[in-house]
Amino acid sequence: MLFEPITVGALTLPHRVVMAPMTRSRSAQPGDVPRALNATYYAQRASAALILSEATQVDPRGKGYAYTPGMYSDAQVEGWRGVTDAVHEAGGLIAAQLWHVGRMSHVDFHDGAPPVSSSALAGPGKVWLGGDQPFVPTSTPRALRTEEIPDVVATFGRAARQAKAAGFDGVELHGANGYLVQQFLSDAVNRRDDAYGGSVQNRIRFAVEVLTAMCEVWAPDRVGMRVSPGLGVNGCDESDPVPLYSALCDAVNDLGIAYLDVVEFYGPPKHKPESPNDVQRMIRERFEGRYLANGGYDLNSAERALSRGDADAIVFGKPFISNPDLPRRLREAAPIAKWDKATFYGGEEAGYTDYPCLE
Ligand SMILES: Cc1cc2nc3c(=O)[nH]c(=O)nc-3n(C[C@H](O)[C@H](O)[C@H](O)COP(=O)(O)O)c2cc1C
Repeated sequence: MLFEPITVGALTLPHRVVMAPMTRSRSAQPGDVPRALNATYYAQRASAALILSEATQVDPRGKGYAYTPGMYSDAQVEGWRGVTDAVHEAGGLIAAQLWHVGRMSHVDFHDGAPPVSSSALAGPGKVWLGGDQPFVPTSTPRALRTEEIPDVVATFGRAARQAKAAGFDGVELHGANGYLVQQFLSDAVNRRDDAYGGSVQNRIRFAVEVLTAMCEVWAPDRVGMRVSPGLGVNGCDESDPVPLYSALCDAVNDLGIAYLDVVEFYGPPKHKPESPNDVQRMIRERFEGRYLANGGYDLNSAERALSRGDADAIVFGKPFISNPDLPRRLREAAPIAKWDKATFYGGEEAGYTDYPCLE
């Protein structure tokens, strides 16, 4: 089934091997601008059914890692235009993943000011300041004031508009992996007592407002959202994933977005659970758009998930780093080249555009 076509909202995909959003920290500096090398990388992977771009900050305040690209300046739009043109010329489709890291950041990215979050609780993870500097602990954030939230929501609307100007085929909200959107969803992190904290309806409010802003720019059938329910990444534990994501499913059904990109698992294929867990099963049943499944999939588990009806398409991450022609390799059951973690973030061609295709 991996090689049967499918529609995802307005997009017709020729098969179901989707490329995951992956930060590679190789934008041009200063300015966090996509460049020709990035266009080459994405065009090499245009045989994906759909490429989800690396996470792209909607605003300078949404940045947390060195050399990640943005979607707010004219130069960035022009840089992204080079990427989308290259992907389209190679016959592919590409959606932009829109990102605000919230507390997963450092004062050095913000002229000494603290990053922002739902609450003033520091995250457990580390961020990269760039160059030879090591990964450093995140800075303690300050809680966004209620009256500031509409401005943050508006940055997503503006970035969605910029993504349209840059020629993308759609936009994906990064609501996963412990970044700002999930810092509102998570009851471990969100300690607010205003309309954005407490009940599940309040905790989904920020996500829904952001998606609404994105759907004012793009038809909802070109909007998706990434979630990582219950995984607790970057300290965003959720004590109640089923009711929380049930409420989110209902809200995004009302908006009519095209898909949810569900991170189900982090780890190697051999440790991946065979069956979906409760929250994943609930999303599959309740959400009316397409279910794109991600996390530790290989050819066999992908085919099994599709044939059982657990997913509509499979999102592959690391295998796409080291196999630019991954769909062909899966179709031919050819060997999958191993990726080199040392070149995931930063640098030039090595470990980025120099992985070969099959002869
Ligand atoms: C180098 C690297 C960068 C990543 N960057 C992002 C990102 O920008 N946005 C995101 O949602 N997930 C990101 N992820 C997570 C992947 O999209 C994916 O969820 C993860 O790799 C699990 O899928 P896999 O087992 O197929 O690799 C990243 C993963 C890696 C390895």
